[in-house]
Amino acid sequence: MRVLVTWGSKRGGTEGIARILGDALEQHGFAVVTTSVDEVTSLDTFDAVIVGGALYGNRWPSNARRFVHRHRAQLRKVPVWFFSSGPLDDSAERQDIPATNQVSVLAERVGARGHITFGGRLERDAKGFPASSMAKTGSGDWRNPERIRAWAARLAAELPRATPGTPVEHRAGSIPRLLAHAVVGWALCAAIMVPLLLLVSRTAAQVVHVVTVPFIFTAVAWHYFRSRGARDPLPTAMVWTASVALLDLVFVAGLVQRNLEMFESVLGTWLPFALIFVATWATGVAMSTMPWRERAAEQGHA
Ligand SMILES: Cc1cc2nc3c(=O)[nH]c(=O)nc-3n(C[C@H](O)[C@H](O)[C@H](O)COP(=O)(O)O)c2cc1C
Repeated sequence: MRVLVTWGSKRGGTEGIARILGDALEQHGFAVVTTSVDEVTSLDTFDAVIVGGALYGNRWPSNARRFVHRHRAQLRKVPVWFFSSGPLDDSAERQDIPATNQVSVLAERVGARGHITFGGRLERDAKGFPASSMAKTGSGDWRNPERIRAWAARLAAELPRATPGTPVEHRAGSIPRLLAHAVVGWALCAAIMVPLLLLVSRTAAQVVHVVTVPFIFTAVAWHYFRSRGARDPLPTAMVWTASVALLDLVFVAGLVQRNLEMFESVLGTWLPFALIFVATWATGVAMSTMPWRERAAEQGHA
């Protein structure tokens, strides 16, 4: 039986866990390939897959998320397990720490059979902010080889009879829902801009518009991201900003003004676009790292 153990990481700690896991499974008699998610091109030759991700702000790194997304069709055909690495204290030893909201959505998407959180590692000389400042007070290694091998033994017992799990389709991430939120945000901005243009000067209207745009898109983004399975903040912010630009181009510049003058204005056009992007992205990131979201996810109704 061929098993792939793969990981997505930023600083190498998760690779150490994957290697202990891979070696242990080999000792249990499985043919194991242990490699980074960046090296995997196909899952065709594997009968089971174990995917690990380092946690940063309760989220896996983008290469681990992309791996699951890119290979989701193949992952749904084999038994899959996830592991996260983790906590820079002994909390993972004291209790089972459930998958974070984002990781559990990924796990559901491919019907993963199980998930475990292992302790993490932060080296004293960790580079980059905020890791370097965290390392000044909280460096250390909480990866426990015994616990990793014990999990490998459990998997080894399950693997020969394991079947693929049942995937969950998250409608919250659908393209129509994504675009509908962009249209609502654009329409709310237009609903503020039109009366303003009738009542005050163009510059005053643009200033009020610039001030209100972040509030509108924060509210729209909050509504969008609160549903389980919504898309990631960065692609959402990109799609919404592009959608608003397209709607402006077609309806405002094309149908109403019949020229492209609006795209010469930083205050009236480009600054609002930038604010839409930032408000959407920041709201998504804040909501995916909020502790209350994680608690709600644990209770199954995030
Ligand atoms: C900036 C930063 C944010 C982190 N956020 C989390 C977190 O949200 N949850 C957690 O359990 N561990 C968190 N950690 C700890 C890492 O997950 C841990 O160091 C892990 O072992 C890193 O794996 P890697 O070396 O493979 O990148 C964080 C570490 C850093 C530096």
